Amino acid sequence: MQPTTHKTSQKRRQILVTSALPYANGPIHLGHLVEYIQTDIWSRFQKMRGHDCLYVCADDAHGTPIMLRAQNEGIKPEELINRISHEHQADFAGFHIGFDNYHSTHSPENRELAELIYRRLRDNGHIHSRSITQAYDPEKQMFLPDRFIKGGCPKCGAEDQYGDSCEVCGATYSPTDLKNPVSALSGATPIERESEHYFFRLADFEGMLQYWIKSDHLQSEISHKLNEWFESGLQDWDISRDAPYFGFEIPDAPGKFFYVWLDAPIGYMASFKHLCDQHEELNFDDYWKQDSKAELYHFIGKDIAYFHTLFWPAMLTGSGFRTPSAVYCHGFLTVNGLKMSKSRGTFIMARSYLDHLNPEYLRYYFAAKLSDGIDDIDLNLEDFQQRVNADLVGKVVNIASRCVGFIHKRFAGRLEGELSEPQLHREFVAAGEAIAALYEKRQYNQAMRQIMALADKANQYIDEKKPWVLAKEDGKDAEVQAVCSTGLNLFMILTAYLKPVLPAMAKQVEAFLHIAPLTWNNYGVPLIGHTIGPFSPLMTRVEPDKVEAMLNASKADLQAQTPAKSAASKATASETATGKALAADPISPPIAYEDFAKLDLRIVRIHKAEHVEGADKLLQLTLDLGGETRNVFAGIKSAYSPEQLEGRLTVMVANLAPRKMRFGLSEGMVLAAGPGGKELFILGPDEGAEPGMRVK
Ligand code: MSP
Ligand code: ZN
Repeated sequence: MQPTTHKTSQKRRQILVTSALPYANGPIHLGHLVEYIQTDIWSRFQKMRGHDCLYVCADDAHGTPIMLRAQNEGIKPEELINRISHEHQADFAGFHIGFDNYHSTHSPENRELAELIYRRLRDNGHIHSRSITQAYDPEKQMFLPDRFIKGGCPKCGAEDQYGDSCEVCGATYSPTDLKNPVSALSGATPIERESEHYFFRLADFEGMLQYWIKSDHLQSEISHKLNEWFESGLQDWDISRDAPYFGFEIPDAPGKFFYVWLDAPIGYMASFKHLCDQHEELNFDDYWKQDSKAELYHFIGKDIAYFHTLFWPAMLTGSGFRTPSAVYCHGFLTVNGLKMSKSRGTFIMARSYLDHLNPEYLRYYFAAKLSDGIDDIDLNLEDFQQRVNADLVGKVVNIASRCVGFIHKRFAGRLEGELSEPQLHREFVAAGEAIAALYEKRQYNQAMRQIMALADKANQYIDEKKPWVLAKEDGKDAEVQAVCSTGLNLFMILTAYLKPVLPAMAKQVEAFLHIAPLTWNNYGVPLIGHTIGPFSPLMTRVEPDKVEAMLNASKADLQAQTPAKSAASKATASETATGKALAADPISPPIAYEDFAKLDLRIVRIHKAEHVEGADKLLQLTLDLGGETRNVFAGIKSAYSPEQLEGRLTVMVANLAPRKMRFGLSEGMVLAAGPGGKELFILGPDEGAEPGMRVK
């Protein structure tokens, strides 16, 4: 039989792919992963097709939230972004996201390119400056971004709303409209102050953008949205921020910094530049010059379309670079049909997932759901288990498990004979072009459907041939071998088709089949007269208790983070005078008495307090409840030394579910108040109270 390989006559494409740059102020969660998995599948697919595809990304390291978080942790922003970058990269590696380069927007390459682009825009007359009035925090001595101002909604009166929009009635407004505005940083009342700002004149690019938008670079939903923006007129874009700001200083404007969103997309170029500097054969200009023949694709979430489809192409055009070939938007992740929620435990961090479950389950599940549209994607945890078990374990891996035993036990690992069903094999090979077309169009959900339909056919074939029956009959050895060899050949083809989605499993299969890495050009050559290696179990069923454990860990993560986080965004030592503390941390909505009664608060004596090796925030407390002792890790090291605590009475939550921490089991919580740092105060009862008494 002729090997049924096909050679694509397509020319070798040069493709540069990016995912949005995650902010360096928080961990990667499953919502982010929709995007990185979507992009990674596409990039791996292009590589398997034999194209020169490069996938770059970086941390988005600038801006006010990052600056403030570092301040609150008492470290330099550089230290913070370094740490987060390592965490992000470890999470991405855990999910097999195969970047060709991962960089940072706080890099020399990015500074150079941001300055270059700015200078060109300025020299071409697209930048101008004017004075604007903005809210200023007189205590923190800095201008306040909208979301750092809180107050009453001007429309419905709801308290404690952010400076740009009301979460209760949905109104949008400017922070100056808020009733009784306060700075979320200090609790001080903001004052108005003038300052010179730099603006990018987006309207200069109206014609260019109108044309660009119509020329097939965008999904139709996005072009429609853009038309609405056009109709309301293209506004100047404020690209500068005043010191203090963590970012790049504007070359000709001391004390003024580029707004984080100016240098963020330039980070795509910077990461690529950094890659070029390590590979002589790669040339930056080939990809970025105005008449470049290379293709450039940005994968992003629909929330940041405005930046990528208006500002970014305009900036590139105004500074003499090429524009993207396309910007591909995806929808948002929901879990069990609802927005990810911290209290439900469905705000799942990449790390919590990886601690409990196989990353390829999620890659497959997202692939089975992702289309080329911008609809939201739901991770339904029931459906997730059922889908992975039925498709990957029940259909795909099952084909191999059903055949490989006979090949090893009876035929010393040898695949032999003609393909017993050459028609079926041809059909499998021929399906490759249609599946490729679906990957190319990002219709992964349909690609998965077609692959699973093939898997069903392979299983039907084995069901019909019944090698386990043949194996008991005399003189049927050759037939058993041919059937099982055919089954494994079909399995190899399916593995190739799934390889963009399941790269780790594909690698295991390549190892056990003793074959070269599968590409879109070699899966059709049948393995006949070939010896395979020992089989190791490929993918096991999703265990429901692991899913449960992941959700519980996500709830625990939240509890562990809450004190540190609220301290981080709130007052610092000098700002805790009466009234301000309340303003900075307003009273929560009312709860029912029954909810309060669930809390079992007890008087305890701190029997022992010790340092914990390797923990910068925690002290280990041994608490005496009057007849019972508890071990509790409390985040109060910044405010107390162990000697100050031993022997004292305080209050604990005695019925908090025990939580496993890195250092041991924590069996409850002690109560403390204050913004954090040195300003933390544990509660003490009046004289006469005794360990074990319930607080009511
Ligand atoms: N730093 C900016 C992007 C700059 S690109 C030049 C940013 N960062 S982000 O960390 O908030 O988001 C990174 C990407 O993840 C964005 O494309 C965003 O849309 C996506 N997602 C963040 N949360 C998401 C979900 N819950 N669901 C799906 N995608 C989500 O924006
Ligand atoms: Zn409102």
